[in-house]
Amino acid sequence: MHLSVALFILAAISICKGRLENNCNVFPKDKYIEVGSDIDIECQTSCVKGKIFWTLNNVPVDERLSNTINSSHTVLSLRKFTHHSAILQCHSAVNQQVLGGTNIRTYSKPSNISCILHSKDQDEGIPDLFTCNWEHQINPSLEVNYTILRSTRSNSSKKKICTSHRTECTNHSVEIFENNSITVRAETAHWTADSDPREFDPLHIWKIVPSKSLNVETFSDRVLVKWNRASSGDPGHCQVNYSKAANEQTTVVLHQNLTKGQHGKMPIDIAKFESCSNYSFSVRCALIKAPWSDWSHKTTVLTQLNKSHVKLRLWRKVAEPEKNGVRRVHAMWTEIPSTCKGTFTYAVKSTPYKEHTIGVNCTLRGKLTCDVDVSRDAHRINLTVFHDESLFVEDSVYVPAIRESLPQVTDIQTSTLEGVILVSWKAPIQSVSCYMVDWTHDGNQYHWKESKYTNATLSDLLDKKPYNITVTPLFENKTSHGTQALHICSRFGGPGNVTIHVQTNDKSALVSWNVTSQEACSGAVVNYTVFYGEPPLNDTLDGSKQDTSLKDLIPDTYYSVYVKATALTGTTESIVTSFKTNRFGPGLITAVSVVGSIIIVLVLSLGLCCTVQWQKFRAKPVPNPRLASAVTLWPTAGRQEGMFQAFSNPTESLCDRVYTEEAQRKASSPIDCYGNPASDQTDDYVDSAMTPIIDEKHEDPVDPVETPRLSSPDDSTALLSAENSPYRSQSSVESPASKCSKQCKRVPLKQTMYVTLDMLEQHGAR
Ligand SMILES: *[C@@H]1O[C@H](CO)[C@@H](O)[C@H](O)[C@H]1NC(C)=O
Ligand SMILES: *[C@@H]1O[C@H](CO)[C@@H](O)[C@H](O)[C@H]1NC(C)=O
Ligand SMILES: *[C@@H]1O[C@H](CO)[C@@H](O)[C@H](O)[C@H]1NC(C)=O
Ligand SMILES: *[C@@H]1O[C@H](CO)[C@@H](O)[C@H](O)[C@H]1NC(C)=O
Ligand SMILES: *[C@@H]1O[C@H](CO)[C@@H](O)[C@H](O)[C@H]1NC(C)=O
Ligand SMILES: *[C@@H]1O[C@H](CO)[C@@H](O)[C@H](O)[C@H]1NC(C)=O
Ligand SMILES: *[C@@H]1O[C@H](CO)[C@@H](O)[C@H](O)[C@H]1NC(C)=O
Ligand SMILES: *[C@@H]1O[C@H](CO)[C@@H](O)[C@H](O)[C@H]1NC(C)=O
Ligand SMILES: *[C@@H]1O[C@H](CO)[C@@H](O)[C@H](O)[C@H]1NC(C)=O
Repeated sequence: MHLSVALFILAAISICKGRLENNCNVFPKDKYIEVGSDIDIECQTSCVKGKIFWTLNNVPVDERLSNTINSSHTVLSLRKFTHHSAILQCHSAVNQQVLGGTNIRTYSKPSNISCILHSKDQDEGIPDLFTCNWEHQINPSLEVNYTILRSTRSNSSKKKICTSHRTECTNHSVEIFENNSITVRAETAHWTADSDPREFDPLHIWKIVPSKSLNVETFSDRVLVKWNRASSGDPGHCQVNYSKAANEQTTVVLHQNLTKGQHGKMPIDIAKFESCSNYSFSVRCALIKAPWSDWSHKTTVLTQLNKSHVKLRLWRKVAEPEKNGVRRVHAMWTEIPSTCKGTFTYAVKSTPYKEHTIGVNCTLRGKLTCDVDVSRDAHRINLTVFHDESLFVEDSVYVPAIRESLPQVTDIQTSTLEGVILVSWKAPIQSVSCYMVDWTHDGNQYHWKESKYTNATLSDLLDKKPYNITVTPLFENKTSHGTQALHICSRFGGPGNVTIHVQTNDKSALVSWNVTSQEACSGAVVNYTVFYGEPPLNDTLDGSKQDTSLKDLIPDTYYSVYVKATALTGTTESIVTSFKTNRFGPGLITAVSVVGSIIIVLVLSLGLCCTVQWQKFRAKPVPNPRLASAVTLWPTAGRQEGMFQAFSNPTESLCDRVYTEEAQRKASSPIDCYGNPASDQTDDYVDSAMTPIIDEKHEDPVDPVETPRLSSPDDSTALLSAENSPYRSQSSVESPASKCSKQCKRVPLKQTMYVTLDMLEQHGAR
């Protein structure tokens, strides 16, 4: 502890001493050097004793680079210095004290100079512009002044010919006839750097002006391109390029060397061109070793028609024979370009091989197909083209007889790849000169091509269309029967349109869907995904499903749903459909309807009862005791039990139950029955509902209903059947009814009602 404090004080003292003496420092200060060059840095060490060491950007430098000259001077030698910017410091080895420091930065010099001689306004003659450009790796924000210095062998002093702030400079009036040595000088506030000098031969940097006299002539066997070389008659070379005017991509470039004073003349064989097509030509030239001129203006010409290049590509499709063996042959060929001069007439004729039969003509003008009917025998279809009434070219194709035995291809395989159909097949055993592959998507429009191999690539197909493909082998002078492959889709699209239908419930919904497609080439659905709700939930089903039930929905809520059908080739989605879940479930609705029906039945029955009772009330307001005696003829107890239990045991009668229910629900109903004021009835009603009726029965044991227990069943039956009317039969139950009405003026209405119904039912049941 004490020791370190002492050391610190010592160090502080020595620093103060060093500062005071001020004899230590590092030179040179803030130096810019060219990148990759060497530098010596000197440290004055007279203020300290002993060794020193160096750091470069705070990293110690190899001691071997440091050279102590005498007690007060040490030199650091840095070789091939490449740091962009570096801080070098000299330290005392004894106490690490910094004795001094300096900042060394590097710059690079311009390089890769190239210069050209060219002409203003593309004038022919001696070039008047001298342009150089070069590379310079520096901080782009740094302001640099560039100067081009030129010296020649005859005048070795460097002359400024151009200044610029960019890495390019053009002199507008220089005249250069001999070799030049060009140096580019870069100047900033802190440094100046000269490039290495570069020597240019004016003939090697002369970019001549493009030819202004390009001339193209066409003949039936060749195209002749001619041009004059501008600017110089020195040896050089030229390039001619041409392309079909409509299709600039396929440019052909031809090369030609020219000797001193020679002008350009290049014949090109007509075989390289399509007949009657527009081609555009241009040319450029250069002196040997010099840069190319710009391309000349384009010249466009129409190539001539050469008979040997006309390819009619005659082909035929033979339809299934009719009953009499007649077959329709659809002949087709390619057009002679409409750009060709003159009139072309096509004539198609079918010639039977059988002797003594004549062919059929089918002459068309301008059309490229023709249908001819041929018999079951072998035929040859001939196509003749007339050019301005004179025979131009001919072609023919063979149609085999119906049962002619000719080798056919087998096992046609197809595959599709990015809208292209690849076809391959098995060759017949016999040798085949080549194969014709034809294909159609509508049975009217055909495409066809020859193949030497047992495969072919069909391109330029309509998207997502089914194609019928036929492969026919061609022999020396015969053409075989074709072999067909049906319905090959050029590409499979996504599934068809999805339409959905929703059936709602309170907590669930049944979503069903249908996929319909107008296209023959829609992909088969692999799975369906149903999206519903917010945030969207999803449910994935395999492609065989057509509906799904959405569960756990909230009643009385709006939902949206859509279905996505996924095929291997794409997806389609139905439109988003909104639905609202029901407020109540189907159980509640059933319950409500059942209860409703019951109420309706009750009310109807009540009305009926009222009517009957009212009529009775009007007819016989007081029960007739004599009728009671008549009731003594009532059937036996067992039977009575079955039939009139409601009367015999009023406690359990429906009358009571209904009364109770109805009283609570509709207290005023009895008023309608009896026409009594509603006010004094309501309370009574409630009371009577609470009061067991049986009590009252006991008070009055001589119940008129119970009296007729001894009566014979026959009598009762007689009575009922005699009256033969349920309404009439009611008279027998009148006493209990009136009793009931006596007991509880408010009740009996319903008692009566149920009795009546029971009776009716029982009576009917018999
Ligand atoms: C040390 O060397 C330097 C350079 O060689 C010289 O200038 C200086 O006088 C010398 N100092 C002594 C004390 O010899
Ligand atoms: C560059 O040239 C301009 C004049 O064109 C001059 O004002 C400027 O000081 C020069 N800059 C340097 C770094 O030489
Ligand atoms: C001019 O320079 C080229 C190299 O660019 C050299 O081959 C030629 O000999 C030189 N011509 C003369 C006359 O020095
Ligand atoms: C058609 O062109 C060929 C070269 O492809 C040539 O040999 C023939 O002479 C030309 N025909 C005519 C009529 O010029
Ligand atoms: C077909 O046309 C040729 C000339 O074009 C004629 O000589 C021949 O009689 C015609 N044949 C029929 C059957 O019309
Ligand atoms: C493909 O061939 C079949 C059978 O010959 C035929 O029924 C169908 O119409 C053809 N389709 C087309 C597009 O030509
Ligand atoms: C057909 O097959 C041959 C060899 O079997 C192959 O070289 C050629 O590329 C194939 N052509 C096409 C169009 O697939
Ligand atoms: C639906 O089928 C596609 C295609 O096979 C598959 O990529 C995807 O994972 C399937 N989706 C589900 C949810 O299984
Ligand atoms: C289906 O829902 C699950 C979560 O429930 C989610 O992870 C998945 O990405 C969804 N699938 C699609 C196709 O949206």
